[in-house]
Order: sequence, then structure tokens, then C-alpha cells
Amino acid sequence: MTTKKKPKVYVTRKLPDAVETRMRELFDAELNIDDRPRTKSELIQAIRVADVLVPTVTDRIDAEVIDEAGPQMKLIASFSNGTDHIDVEAAARRGITVTNTPNVLTEDTADMTMALILAVPRRLAEGARVLTDNPGEWAGWSPTWMLGRRIHGKRIGIVGMGRIGTAVARRAKAFGLSIHYHNRKRVNPATEDELEATYWDSLDQMLARVDIVSVNCPSTPATYHLISARRLALLQPTSYIVNTARGDVIDEAALIKILREGKIAGAGLDVFENEPSVNPKLVKLANEGKVVILPHMSSATLEGRIDMGDKVIINIRTFIDGHRPPNRVLPFR
Ligand code: DGY
Repeated sequence: MTTKKKPKVYVTRKLPDAVETRMRELFDAELNIDDRPRTKSELIQAIRVADVLVPTVTDRIDAEVIDEAGPQMKLIASFSNGTDHIDVEAAARRGITVTNTPNVLTEDTADMTMALILAVPRRLAEGARVLTDNPGEWAGWSPTWMLGRRIHGKRIGIVGMGRIGTAVARRAKAFGLSIHYHNRKRVNPATEDELEATYWDSLDQMLARVDIVSVNCPSTPATYHLISARRLALLQPTSYIVNTARGDVIDEAALIKILREGKIAGAGLDVFENEPSVNPKLVKLANEGKVVILPHMSSATLEGRIDMGDKVIINIRTFIDGHRPPNRVLPFR
């Protein structure tokens, strides 16, 4: 009896135990038990010898790394929904297939988007700090103290009405917000009817008319600084902006400037332009209660991470068996 050689799979970060156990069973897996982020030269070293690379959003798999791939390297099975950290075009040129883990983060990400939509106007983070930072100083309830702004009855403008944008819209509707959206194309009429959603072909016009903006589109060359300084200037002074997609969809320096100048009411950010470093000016604004910032944790649930791991494994298995993997990513055109 011949036993098929297990593929050499290099995993760049620590994954949930259940996923790592399954990977050890199925593959010749090199895991990252201590979760130290891999350096560029370690990634290059890995791609030279592994059959499959499993990176995450914290690894920059650019053309320089991909060009070092050995002839055996055929699959980059990313443990991520987004693939902006991978040069998919360069991978295609080298005949390397790229896969991702769509669908399984939708509800978790939409939940946290909704949490930020509530947290900023209702001053949740500020309120929570009152009792933890200076518990003795709380003088009790007062009619004019800690006033935020009402959510119910306001208009939300969703930028990017894909799976996550639609899941945010469902939640927002349940909170009494009216749904407005901008997308490359209009969603199907049944979804529009269900959400009673208004489609805006012009992003500019939508931004000028909504109370809360939720950024839910992927990072692509076309969405880089989509929310530019010019577009931020269209927002109403009472409006809020929430971003759980990717930091570079918003011109962060311009956002900081209009927040500082009081030209919008606040922001809720789970993602940043230069992660993991966060602009100290944003931290200052957070300390002043003008923004709520989270460390890229919208999708961080154990269930979600295990589902992502299952998808990675299915993609690898299907590919190794000679079939097209279910979550193949094509170069952006
Ligand atoms: C992804 O997988 O793209 C997410 O940003 C992780 O939270």
C-alpha cells in the first residue's frame, strides 16, 4: 500500500487548538505555537520550501515574497476574509492559487459594527470609564449629564452593501434606522424591499444626507481613500462614521483633522491605516470621548476563528485532491 505524502503547510500565526489539531492530523503542518508574527525573511524562507502557505491579515505577502516561491508552492490559503495583504496578481503570475475564508465572519463583524454605531453616539466607552477610572467621583444621575444622541429614527449610509453591509443593514433596521446605501451595483430588489433601503448611485450625495456612515467595503485599489478629505467635508456636523472594514478606505489624517475641528460628531474605528500602530492623535481623541477605537477585533469570536480554520482546511484539501477550492480569489480587475 502506498501512502500519499502529506503536504507541507506553513501556518504564520497561532490558530485555535481545534484547528491546529486537525491540521496536524491532515498535513505536515508547521505551526506558530508562540504566535510571534513572522518576519519577511521568515515568510520568504517558508514560501521557498512549503507546498501551502497559510497567512493571516498580519502578513504582507507581496510580490517580493511571492517571487521567492519554490516550484512546489502552489497554494496560499489565507486565514482571512480580506485578501488586501496578498498580491493576488503576482501569485496568479506564478501559477499560485489564492483562497480566503468568506461568509463565516459576516455576523460577528456586523454585530461589532452595530456595537460601534451604538457606542459612539451613546458615549458607551466614556460612560464605562466613569465607574472604572474614578468610581468614587460619580455624583449620581442627573438630567443633563452624559447626554448622547438618539439612534432611533436616524439615517444610516452603508458604503459597500456586500454580505457584511447587508448584515449591518438588517441590524440597523431593527434599531429603527432608515437604510441608505452606496454600492458598485444595486442589490437585488427583494433585499432592497426587505430593508426598505434607498440606493444612492452618488456616494457624495448619500454622505451629505445621512447621520451615520458605516464603511463596509473591501480594501482594493478602487476603494483606497474612497472616503477622502473632500468626501469627509460633505458630512453633516452631527454625523458619525464607523469603520470595521479596512483603515485605508478612509483618509485617516483627514478624518483626524475634521474630528479635531468638530466638523463631525464622532467616529468608531476598528481598523487603522498603519496597523498595528495607531495614530496617537486618534488615541488622544478617544481619551477625549470623540472616538471609540478598537484593536481590529470585529471578527474576533472563537466560533468565527474555528469556522475560518475549517474553511482553510477545506480549501487545502480540495486543492490537494486536484479540484478547484471553494473559496478561490481571483486578481482584482
Ligand atoms: C479578515 O479576515 O479579513 C478580517 O479583517 C479579520 O478580522
